[in-house]
Amino acid sequence: MRAEVVAMDAEHLDMEAIRKAGDILKSGGLVAFPTETVYGLGGNALDPEASRKIYAAKGRPSDNPLIVHIADIDKLDEITSGVPEKARILAEKYWPGPLTMILNKADIVPKETTGGLESVAVRFPSDRIAQELIRAGGGFVAAPSANTSGRPSPTMSEHVEEDLGDAIDMIIDGGQVGIGLESTIVDFTEEIPVVLRPGYISLEMLQETLGEVRMDKGLLITDSKVRPKAPGMKYRHYAPRADLSIVEGSEEDVIAMINRLTEEAEAKGEKVGIIATDETESLYVGGDVRSIGSREEEETIAHHLYEVLRDFDSDDVNVIYSEAFYTPRMGQAIMNRLLKAAGHKIIKA
Ligand code: TXA
Ligand code: MG
Repeated sequence: MRAEVVAMDAEHLDMEAIRKAGDILKSGGLVAFPTETVYGLGGNALDPEASRKIYAAKGRPSDNPLIVHIADIDKLDEITSGVPEKARILAEKYWPGPLTMILNKADIVPKETTGGLESVAVRFPSDRIAQELIRAGGGFVAAPSANTSGRPSPTMSEHVEEDLGDAIDMIIDGGQVGIGLESTIVDFTEEIPVVLRPGYISLEMLQETLGEVRMDKGLLITDSKVRPKAPGMKYRHYAPRADLSIVEGSEEDVIAMINRLTEEAEAKGEKVGIIATDETESLYVGGDVRSIGSREEEETIAHHLYEVLRDFDSDDVNVIYSEAFYTPRMGQAIMNRLLKAAGHKIIKA
């Protein structure tokens, strides 16, 4: 089976195709679709068999729970039990948008969807194609990122086709996504809200709305004995096939170090990729140099990260050196993904 690919523009929705996709979901099939963060692989969240199919298509460990996507705020109470006031405040402020909340689940959500947990992750995406698909599919769509488990998340439909084209029923191609990194996950199952995965909505933005909010210890400490609470965050993830290292230090030292390492690796016959920025791109001597964006516009860095990693895979690069991107607002999210992709390999320049 090869997935049917249907192109669509969020300004001109093809409602007939959406209805067809919704019918696929209702009958237990899988449809990949764009969201504002990354492409998702959707199945009916209330159907245990559909969730099993999602795990199988991605090759994902079944203890790694799925996010349930809704397109109507009233649906929140149907799949959760006891939503705390702070969660309602956050939903009011950031939904629809790149925010996922962990809440206690209601009985109708099967354990297959939540990886055996008593809690459920819920997100209301802002993408219009996603919203219409969720409504057409019955209102509750379980959707992990639409990549093979472990690979960088897809930011365009070609990435989805590459990974899952043979394993699912339909792909809705809505062009490139807006943000390019997965949603911020906030856990409300404890007294003080905890960020389990940083994203476009930063810790500071959450604290401004809610007061005290913590970062999950497993995210702050690189010690592998401290497990992150989101089961998905413990796996090596977002990884290109090449051996990726992050080089840290002053801009000048980083460039000198990457130039030296590249020269050494190329002398050994390695094909080297370099992740640079608009500001530094011209300063590298060897290697396949890609600018990820501009340090002046950190959104561009977030937007291009996964695409650059996938491009290096297509070019059969086997060693990658990347600059570090501790940018002011999204730096936490960008570095969280880059560190995971690098298996935490950091070289001090
Ligand atoms: O932006 C996004 O959130 C995208 C788009 C498609 O919406 N989805 C996404 O899903 O990134 P996925 O499956 O790739 O990542 C979900 C993360 C995993 O790390 C998982 O462990 C965590 O959410 N998660 C899901 N349910 C959870 C729960 N009940 N408790 C703790 N963590 C949970
Ligand atoms: Mg994922």
